[in-house]
Amino acid sequence: MANLSIALVYFSGTNVTHTYAEVIRETLLDEGCSVRSFNVTPYGSRQAGLSFDDDDGVLFGFPVFADFAPSVINEWLPTLKGQGKKCALFLTYGARTTGYAHFHTKLLLERAGFQVLFSAEFLGRHSFNVGGWRVIPDRPNAEDFVVAREYARLAMERFASDAPAAFRLQKPFGYNQVIAALEHEPEVTERQWRNPVRIPEGCSMCRQCEVECPTRAFDADTGLSDPRTCLGCMHCVWICPDHALRVDAMGAVYAAFLENWHLTEDMMRSKKSRIITESWQAAF
Ligand SMILES: Cc1cc2nc3c(=O)[nH]c(=O)nc-3n(C[C@H](O)[C@H](O)[C@H](O)COP(=O)(O)O)c2cc1C
Repeated sequence: MANLSIALVYFSGTNVTHTYAEVIRETLLDEGCSVRSFNVTPYGSRQAGLSFDDDDGVLFGFPVFADFAPSVINEWLPTLKGQGKKCALFLTYGARTTGYAHFHTKLLLERAGFQVLFSAEFLGRHSFNVGGWRVIPDRPNAEDFVVAREYARLAMERFASDAPAAFRLQKPFGYNQVIAALEHEPEVTERQWRNPVRIPEGCSMCRQCEVECPTRAFDADTGLSDPRTCLGCMHCVWICPDHALRVDAMGAVYAAFLENWHLTEDMMRSKKSRIITESWQAAF
């Protein structure tokens, strides 16, 4: 099984998905695979075409943003040439739900011509913790990484197999309605609490925020992100070397989040990372 060549493609706003991608990469390397990693978070990284001709399989990793993988992949994924290549998916999420992300992302990958063999969902501290939320701040932990390593080994096994088991996912209830509603969602033009701003004091004008923004929403000159395109992914806040970006105090929003979703910190802490090979496992 060694000598497999595996591509690892992932998006990561606040390093959670990157951390899992690194654990998966190290496991594959330890097992004798060769690995090519592509971090497709910055806008520019998605402009060059990717080719997987020489790979035995591809692993795709995305965080869950409002029940889906980041919306930037909706147009980008279908431009990839799957050509029947085997792939597997992994999602990272902040302990609420992976929502429609397994089903929808699998569909996008299949539309691009990939053969999706299985998926996984890994727990990670919430991106909004950078603004004061307290969702599972100590995750991923050692137990999560055990599952990530199992995931890497399963990828090797299934990518090496001539007839890997089929992976079918049932359509989640309400999926069609949610997709239709998203298409007619009005454009957000006003600044929201999740749109970062720059504090001019301390900013060295390195422009990393602008260069690395997944949607080119951040303007380093004005110090504002465009609410129409900003994903609220917190990548600019996370990477700013001067700690000169911030979001509004999120305390009230955090309380409303827990209340709206009938969630407690105990409930979130008790969730477990897992590999998904069967439709019933992906129910939410
Ligand atoms: C805009 C936005 C929406 C999010 N929506 C969800 C969600 O629907 N369910 C969930 O459990 N976590 C949600 N999260 C939390 C992230 O999925 C989680 O923190 C993820 O591990 C972040 O990965 P990253 O650091 O690689 O971007 C959301 C985060 C952001 C920024």
